[in-house]
Amino acid sequence: MARQKTRFVCQSCGYETGKWLGRCPSCGEFATFSEEAVVEDKSRYKRAAAADESRRSSSVVLSEISALDSAHMKTGIGELDRVLSGGLVRGSFTLVGGDPGIGKSTLLIQLCKSADKGKILYVSGEESAAQVKLRASRLDITTDDLLILSETNLKTIENEIINIRPDIVIIDSIQTMYTDDITSAPGSVSQVRESGYRLLNIAKQNNITVIIVGHVTKEGQLAGPRVLEHMVDTVLYFEGDKNFSYRILRCVKNRFGGTNEIGVFEMTGKGLREILNPSEYLLKGRPIGVPGSAVTCCMEGSRPLLVEVQALAAYTGFQTPRRMATGTDFGRVIMLMAVLEKRLNFSLASFDIYVNLTGGIRLSEPSLDAAIIACVASSYKNKAVAPHTAIFGEVGLAGELRGVGMCEKRIAECVKLGFTDIIIPTANSKEIPAELKKNVRTADNINMLLSLIL
Ligand code: TYD
Ligand code: MG
Repeated sequence: MARQKTRFVCQSCGYETGKWLGRCPSCGEFATFSEEAVVEDKSRYKRAAAADESRRSSSVVLSEISALDSAHMKTGIGELDRVLSGGLVRGSFTLVGGDPGIGKSTLLIQLCKSADKGKILYVSGEESAAQVKLRASRLDITTDDLLILSETNLKTIENEIINIRPDIVIIDSIQTMYTDDITSAPGSVSQVRESGYRLLNIAKQNNITVIIVGHVTKEGQLAGPRVLEHMVDTVLYFEGDKNFSYRILRCVKNRFGGTNEIGVFEMTGKGLREILNPSEYLLKGRPIGVPGSAVTCCMEGSRPLLVEVQALAAYTGFQTPRRMATGTDFGRVIMLMAVLEKRLNFSLASFDIYVNLTGGIRLSEPSLDAAIIACVASSYKNKAVAPHTAIFGEVGLAGELRGVGMCEKRIAECVKLGFTDIIIPTANSKEIPAELKKNVRTADNINMLLSLIL
C-alpha cells in the first residue's frame, strides 16, 4: 500500500527536510524549499533489488578491459571535440547546461549531422517532432540515422530506448522529463534526480552515450545542480551574451580528459558556426588611436585569447564617484584603482570609472590587470596606447608587475595577430623566444609600464 508523505526539498541543492526552512543548511541559499508530495512505493525498491541480484557484476583485471570501450568518438564538430578532449566517450553521460535560447538544442541537433556515429535518438520534451524537423531541415540535417521522439514520460522513453537500441540518446531537456513514481512537478529536484539516475542506469548498462540538456536558473546554476553534476561524467556549459552572436562552450567536469578547453561558436542564420580564430573575432572593430583602449592576451585553458579592454574615466561633480566593471571582476578593478592612487598618485576620487571587456566576453584572469591599469591611465591622461601594442601581466598591491603562465604562447598569439610591441612582466623575460625578442619589452612595475606606453 502506497504511503502518502510530504517533504521539503531545497530546489538548489536537493537537501531534504521534514519541515520548511527559510535557509538551506546545506547550500546556504534562502527561500529555496518547496513542499513535494512523495509516494513511497516500497515494492518499487524491492523490484529494483531483485533486478540487481540478477545482474551481479564481477571484477575484471585492468589490462583485460577492452580499450575500445573508452575510446573517444569524434563528433564532427571540431570545437566540441576540443572541449571534450577528443570526442564523446561511448557509454558516457554528458550534461549540457546553459541559459534558455543560448543554442543548446541547435548544437545537439547539429551533432547529429555527420552520420558515422550510429543511430541517434533525439528526445524532445519541449518541441513537437514537426518543430524539430523544421529546425533540422533549416540546418540541412537529412540523415536517416536520426530518430525523433517528442515525449516527456520517462517510462515511454526507456521503452523506446530498449526497443530501438540507439548508440546515442539526446534528452532535451531533463527539466521537462517526469516519472509517475514521483508526484512532484517536472523540473523539481526529485524529478530531475530520479530521471537523471534512471537515464544513467540505461546508459551504463547498455553502453549508450547519453547527452542531456539542463536549463540554468536565474542565478546561473543548473536547476538541481549538485544532484546532477556528481552523477554525470562530463558537464559542459554553453554561455554567451544575448546581445552578441558568439557562444562559448566550456567544460567544468570531465572524467575522460582535461576541463580547461573552450570552444567558440557563432550563432548564424544557419545554426552554429565554429570560430577557428576567436582573437581576430574579438578584436574586430577596435578603435584605433582612441584613449582608454588596450589589448591584452588571456589564456582560456591552453588557448590564448586576445581581448580589448576599454576604460572611461569621466569627471564627476558627485561626492561618491561611480565604479563599474563589465565582463571582469569588480573587486579586482577597485583594487587596481587603489593601486593607481597610492603608487602613482592618480587622484581618481573625482572621476567615474567604467571598465569594459569588449565583445561581451567574461574573463577574470589576473593577467588582465596590466591592461586594466593601462587603459584607465590612458583615459585619465587622455593619451592613446599605440594600436600595435599588447600588454599582459598581474599587478600586485605594491604596484609591481608579476609574471604570468604560458608567456610564450601569449607572445606568439599577439605576434600572429600583428602586434609588434608586446609589454610583459620582467619576471617572464626568460620565456621570450629568441626570434621574437625585438617585439617584446619588459616592465618591473606599473610606473615603468606606463612610461613605456603613454
Ligand atoms: P536553441 O538551440 O533553441 O536554444 P536552447 O535550446 O538553448 O534554448 O536556440 C534558440 C536561438 O537560436 C533562437 O533565439 C534562435 C537562434 N537560432 C539562430 O539564430 N539560427 C539558427 O539557425 C537556429 C536554429 C537558431
Ligand atoms: Mg532547447
